[in-house]
Amino acid sequence: MDVMTAIQTRRSIRSYRNQPVEPEKLARVLEAARRAPSAKNMQAWKFVVVTDPQTRAKLATMANHQAFVGQAPVVIAACALRPDYVMPCGVPAHPVDLAIAVDHITLQAVAEGLGTCWIGAFQQEACKELLGIPPEVRIVVLLTLGYPTEVPPPTWRKPLAEIVCYERWG
Ligand SMILES: Cc1cc2nc3c(=O)[nH]c(=O)nc-3n(C[C@H](O)[C@H](O)[C@H](O)COP(=O)(O)O)c2cc1C
Repeated sequence: MDVMTAIQTRRSIRSYRNQPVEPEKLARVLEAARRAPSAKNMQAWKFVVVTDPQTRAKLATMANHQAFVGQAPVVIAACALRPDYVMPCGVPAHPVDLAIAVDHITLQAVAEGLGTCWIGAFQQEACKELLGIPPEVRIVVLLTLGYPTEVPPPTWRKPLAEIVCYERWG
């Protein structure tokens, strides 16, 4: 599958088959994260892969009671090890680094026939405690992963002309 096809096919999946993800597929989506670029190549990240049904159910509760978080066979907590590091441009590196890595996962997932959904609505401290994540680490997002049972309708995007300008702001 070429990159643009994966980009265009990826959708947020909020309904999953009750079927585990094969270990080799899981390994490939995680390899896609490992290959992501990061500020200063620090790779200051760790991915907590949760498959235990009881833990997933608790995560669903802590994720604003979004039931599909518990139904997905895999939930990945994408964690930043250095949330303190700010780039010379004044922007914290960790949300950028983790977003790239997680997006790699979402695109490789499409190539594997899997679906994902980014989850930003979750209780940071409760999830950290549940997963035994140390205080200095921050969960940037949760990501559900599994076989989709839905094909969501197309979502709207702004036209290129609205989001791009050339040479100068305009
Ligand atoms: C950082 C981030 C956080 C998100 N958090 C949630 C969430 O908590 N629950 C949810 O159902 N979708 C969540 N989404 C999915 C967005 O709603 C979705 O990407 C957007 O509506 C576009 O739809 P699409 O992904 O199908 O193209 C999140 C997406 C991103 C990038």
